[in-house]
Amino acid sequence: MSRIAYVNGRYLAHRDARVHVEDRGYQFADGCYEVVAMRNGIFIDAALHLQRLRRSLAALRIDFPVKDASLMVVMHEVARRNLVREGFVYLQITRGVAPRDFAFPSKSQPSLVMTARSKLLVDPKLMASGIKIITIPDQRWARPDIKSVSLLPNALGKEAAKQAGAYEAWQVDRDGNVTEGTSSNAWIVTKAGEVLTRQADQGILNGVTRLGLLRVIAASGLQLRERPFSVAEAKDAAEALLTSSTNFVVPIVRIDDVPIGNAKPGPLAKKLAASYVEYAATGGSDKL
Ligand code: PDD
Repeated sequence: MSRIAYVNGRYLAHRDARVHVEDRGYQFADGCYEVVAMRNGIFIDAALHLQRLRRSLAALRIDFPVKDASLMVVMHEVARRNLVREGFVYLQITRGVAPRDFAFPSKSQPSLVMTARSKLLVDPKLMASGIKIITIPDQRWARPDIKSVSLLPNALGKEAAKQAGAYEAWQVDRDGNVTEGTSSNAWIVTKAGEVLTRQADQGILNGVTRLGLLRVIAASGLQLRERPFSVAEAKDAAEALLTSSTNFVVPIVRIDDVPIGNAKPGPLAKKLAASYVEYAATGGSDKL
């Protein structure tokens, strides 16, 4: 099967899909994106993704007068043409093409690109073994709450994790607190059984999977607090886990080579992962 990409109104063969060299996304990372998971042909929390996209666009002052319903039509079509039933749609909007100048062009047409890829969202091997992560300094700009395509520190961090034989890197702020992973949100379960995740301030991306899992936790009666936690607290935790659209909920068994609990996926992490799968099967909360 040949892959298809959507570029500004056209469905093109993936290998021929192009944007202009002076697209501001290419030159300034002047754009934002979403990764929307699909399982059994159902998008998961699409409404939350589109809400976050609107928020990112507004923060970057990119005017994008296309209705959510129209975006959903294209998202479904891109998934369908790529035969994706389990995987994700990648959607990127930039300020568009203009002669290179730091200030915004007086007129430009935003570029919209979408691709789709099949991926196992719940990997039984990862769920059985759990994953290793490392910690690194958070070197990003001060607004990681905006889902911008400016991801160089994240890419450097993920590569450092890969070199260390780890799956993810947790970024750490100047106070020694974990912000989030390079492409996921961070969670721990304390020895007292409290679930902790950083509050969604300007220091992290408010993950859609994070929001989904918060709903799952609220319905389960578990103890939860949204507050920063330190690397020391994480290493001393009973359990640790991460969340993202492309991995759902994954147990963490080592942080910088320090075993978490008994270095096996923890019972709460496994339970939360299973409950999130059930939640995702319905398409999430606020359907579009
Ligand atoms: N990344 N934090 C960061 C920095 C991320 O890049 C992501 C997602 C998340 C989790 O957000 P969500 O649950 O909405 O996927 C947190 C996507 C998957 C990516 O860039 O590929």
